[in-house]
Amino acid sequence: ASVEKGDYPYFMLKEIAEQPQAVADTLAGSLVDGRVSLPGLGLSEQCIRELTSVVVIACGSSYHAGLIAQQAIERWTDLPVHVEVASEFRYREPKLRSTTLVVAVSQSGESMDTLMALRHAQQAGATVVSICNTRGSSMARESHGVLYTEAGTEIGVAATKTFLTQVAAGYLLALHLAGVRGGQTTDGLIEVAEALADIPRAARQLLATVPQLRALAASLADRDAVLFLGRQLGYPVAMEGALKLKELAYLHAEAFAAGELKHGPIALIEDGLPVVVVMPSASQQPLLHEKMMSNIQEVRARGAVTVVIAEQGDESVDACADAVVRMPTTHFMLAPLLASIPLQILTCELALARGCDVDQPRNLAKSVTVE
Ligand code: G6P
Repeated sequence: ASVEKGDYPYFMLKEIAEQPQAVADTLAGSLVDGRVSLPGLGLSEQCIRELTSVVVIACGSSYHAGLIAQQAIERWTDLPVHVEVASEFRYREPKLRSTTLVVAVSQSGESMDTLMALRHAQQAGATVVSICNTRGSSMARESHGVLYTEAGTEIGVAATKTFLTQVAAGYLLALHLAGVRGGQTTDGLIEVAEALADIPRAARQLLATVPQLRALAASLADRDAVLFLGRQLGYPVAMEGALKLKELAYLHAEAFAAGELKHGPIALIEDGLPVVVVMPSASQQPLLHEKMMSNIQEVRARGAVTVVIAEQGDESVDACADAVVRMPTTHFMLAPLLASIPLQILTCELALARGCDVDQPRNLAKSVTVE
């Protein structure tokens, strides 16, 4: 079926706006009354109990979704998780066994790098599942089980709704593994699941940040570079923000784990350099929040223009931010599902302000089927 832009001038804007529904559709059926069940995954409870490790393979935005899944699985289960760029995976002879769960994350299910990594894992005898948006794709066919994201067709070359639904699917997988293995975690997993079910509502509120981010984009359109800072779950969010900005606005954009700033990247800070900061939750992660506050002060003292993504009610950031973008409060483990949205909107607006084609960026393909 052909997909139309409707009232939107660009597919990217439309697909950003479709995200609350896409996440709701991805959760529907798998998440009922705080319980997760994933029959399509094709893994018996015994198989899940016998797992000894998890390896996630993916490229591009899907890799960033994998980094978020890693933190959720490691926090909620006893399994060690390793995430690797798919194009690097098979060349270093990774050690895999039947109790290794290999998770291929790919919206298309056809990225050659990920497919070859998946085949390598299959041949090595690992248990292979994929998180995929395309039914009948090569990866879906060649995995033991599939967790489908329900983003629908995405036309914009740079992933938006497929990325966000992969992140949602990663949480479902983590909660499922934790449920079967009897997770040992300080998080109440029923509460996490309830918070997850509430994400579509909260995500919808973030669509109202468009006018604010459009004005901000206009003021930053002439810059040559943008840095992104995050910690813990905010780090992959920052990485995805930087990738999007490279892809669509052709800006030099780099993400750093904020704690690493002082070990080198701080030398890059100069007057007027925009630094986008993904703030941890002030109410739930006070120690991390405090560290991030001092990181913001460090870059601001050196002339950076700071754009801070912070939860509602976190007024402490006002004093050190040139712009604050507010997001609804959620369980801190799920914040990437919200914090990613203003970064996508900022990128889209910045690309448009710079005269770029957000749906068809130069040199990029929607799905890369060569290695
Ligand atoms: C291409 C796209 C990216 C995407 C990556 C992985 O490079 O431009 O937006 O994240 O492929 O695609 P996949 O289909 O494997 O998720």
